[in-house]
Amino acid sequence: MKQTIIITGGAGFIGSHVVRLFVIKYPDYSIVNLDDLTYAGNLENLRDIESSPNYVFEKVNILDQAGLKRVFAQYNPTGVIHLAAESHVDRSIHSPLDFVYTNVIGTVNLLNAAKEAWQGQYRGKRFYHVSTDEVYGALGETGFFTEETRYDPHSPYSASKASSDHFVRAYGDTYGLPQVISNCSNNYGPNHFPEKLIPLFINNIIQKKPLPVYGDGLYTRDWLFVKDHATAIDLVYHKGENHSTYNIGGFNEWKNIDLVKLLCSLMDKKLNNAPGTSDQLITYIKDRPGHDRRYAIDASKINKELGWKPSVSFEEGLQLTIDWYFDNQEWLKHVTSGEYLKYYETQYQS
Ligand code: NAD
Ligand code: TYD
Repeated sequence: MKQTIIITGGAGFIGSHVVRLFVIKYPDYSIVNLDDLTYAGNLENLRDIESSPNYVFEKVNILDQAGLKRVFAQYNPTGVIHLAAESHVDRSIHSPLDFVYTNVIGTVNLLNAAKEAWQGQYRGKRFYHVSTDEVYGALGETGFFTEETRYDPHSPYSASKASSDHFVRAYGDTYGLPQVISNCSNNYGPNHFPEKLIPLFINNIIQKKPLPVYGDGLYTRDWLFVKDHATAIDLVYHKGENHSTYNIGGFNEWKNIDLVKLLCSLMDKKLNNAPGTSDQLITYIKDRPGHDRRYAIDASKINKELGWKPSVSFEEGLQLTIDWYFDNQEWLKHVTSGEYLKYYETQYQS
């Protein structure tokens, strides 16, 4: 069936990979990328597909109710894939209200826009909310997050995402809005804004700047290559059950310090450095407040029901990512000027 899908946050890291996948894979669909181009949104991420006949960009803030109403009336979408968000935990510690506005109120605005546009005519319609595993809180040494794990967010970011998940489910229960949610682990890959661990450290190694490891460095994350997340989103959007949740993860847990050391060794090879050169940049700094000790996803539901699994090993994915940053120095230069420098100073001043 031909579809028109509004993808919010399509100029961001994950959103740009989802937009590209849908534009190329579904030439009969119309893809509307709705994004306000905050510091994290960058149309350079989509240069290769921006003139495709089935793609259009709309610069709209999800806090702008009239703007959303206009876009829904103009395009008459059959689906929404909602990725627009404030996405960085450290920024949420500095400015929690920004996260409440975009992640909570923006999501409710989008739900209202869909509900009002669809007027209860829900056949063939779908509202897909892309969320995070951080809503589940922190694990100890063992165990995994399943779709049934109780929500227990600890950062303003994860609390705002948890709240948005609750609103999406509430619109399903109260108004019958056909909704589906996925909660994914940490992504990495091309186009990742260099405030997050992996791209920040790649950039700092290139610049020979310190690699600021929070606390004891023994925090654990489950890493997934971004294109594998996009593939999972495609499957959940088309084949997931309404009013259902899918956990998405990499089956790939790493303690931060081990990951940083692997990254350093791959970067030393790339830069023709003597082994151990980049390790010398590792600097332990004060911990992030409320830092979750361990995340690990049980992705067996999406694996069994939809047949999804990651396609790229961590070493392959990291190598692809490093190569991308080397081949896209201009992109890196553009995003690490202006606002970025101010953020960097505030976050990493001792
Ligand atoms: P990102 O910060 O790279 O991109 C966010 C995009 O949303 C940007 O293009 C930005 O311009 C846009 N945006 C922000 N506020 C907006 C607003 N008020 N109106 C319109 N557009 C706005 O984020 P990301 O890492 O690509 O994450 C995308 C989604 O996936 C988020 O919802 C995030 O919570 C979720 N997620 C991310 C990860 C991860 O590891 N990055 C993991 C799991 C889930
Ligand atoms: P991040 O990429 O911010 O993702 P999240 O907090 O959403 O998991 O951080 C990943 C891990 O790396 C997390 O445990 C915090 C840690 N970290 C550092 O040690 N130093 C840094 O400069 C950053 C940005 C993160």
